[in-house]
Amino acid sequence: MNPPDYEYLRKLLKDHSGLDLSADKQYLIESRLLPLARKAGLPGIPELVQKMKGVGSTALIAQVVEAMTTNETFFFRDKVPFDHFRDTIMPELLRARGGRKSIRIWCAAGSTGQEPYSLAICLKEMGAALAGWRVEILATDLSQEVLEKSKAGIYSQFEVQRGLPIQMLVKYFKQNGELWQINPELRAMIQHRPLNLLHDFSQLGSFDVIFCRNVLIYFDQDTKINIFGRLARIMEPDGFLVLGAAETVVGLTEAFKPVADKRGLYRPGDARAQQPRPIAAPRLAMAGG
Ligand SMILES: C[S@@+](CC[C@H](N)C(=O)[O-])C[C@H]1O[C@@H](n2cnc3c(N)ncnc32)[C@H](O)[C@@H]1O
Repeated sequence: MNPPDYEYLRKLLKDHSGLDLSADKQYLIESRLLPLARKAGLPGIPELVQKMKGVGSTALIAQVVEAMTTNETFFFRDKVPFDHFRDTIMPELLRARGGRKSIRIWCAAGSTGQEPYSLAICLKEMGAALAGWRVEILATDLSQEVLEKSKAGIYSQFEVQRGLPIQMLVKYFKQNGELWQINPELRAMIQHRPLNLLHDFSQLGSFDVIFCRNVLIYFDQDTKINIFGRLARIMEPDGFLVLGAAETVVGLTEAFKPVADKRGLYRPGDARAQQPRPIAAPRLAMAGG
């Protein structure tokens, strides 16, 4: 790929999705975008870039941004966050929210749904403890395509074999040929919505729990700091933030503090008052928030 095309794509991806590619990721762009170029009837990346620079290219740019997202996920990924959810977060919130009996959870990059559905399964498994409670789960993602799959709640044999205990599969999914669909009651527990974390999300209201896992890892330091600041502002003062195994707030922000001995779990810190603004990224029709 010629260097000016690479620079153009790097900047575009950083501005539109936060993806921070180092100088040597040409192969990644080629492997993800060549199929897209071919599908659009174009011979290669230079022609794709040319078309992206033309008028009326918003939809094509959105497709390029989506094609560059990494959507890897699986049920109960890394296990520990879901142990924290069941053993630490929910017991504490049941005590603290006994008056209003409502809890709001946000899966901020929910991909194809395995993460929000794992949370829904945890909640279902709590049974009578949640009788009379209203628990909302909001699943958002930049990619419209993964959100559609998440909404449908239909998974292949391979996908349900990744992380989902067999007794949960039998209990909460219905088999249809080679596919498995999650039961309607669990599907109804989750609201879906497209949302780009670079954009303003203050209109979502406040949350008791935010799962924001395995997405910040793709962003540069300033973008992470900005997003942490804005997450803190929509989190209840006694809420919980859950990050991915390779992510942390340490050394980046005081907006959240790690919970001792609970890997990946954070609570609002002292700097909630700071008011970071959303990054002024160009808005995409498909990835609006
Ligand atoms: C690797 S998946 C993580 C899924 C899930 N949280 C997990 O840990 O298994 C990352 C997800 O982040 C989404 N994503 C990437 N950039 C984003 C952005 N700027 N705003 C919102 N979602 C984004 C991608 O579309 C993808 O579905």
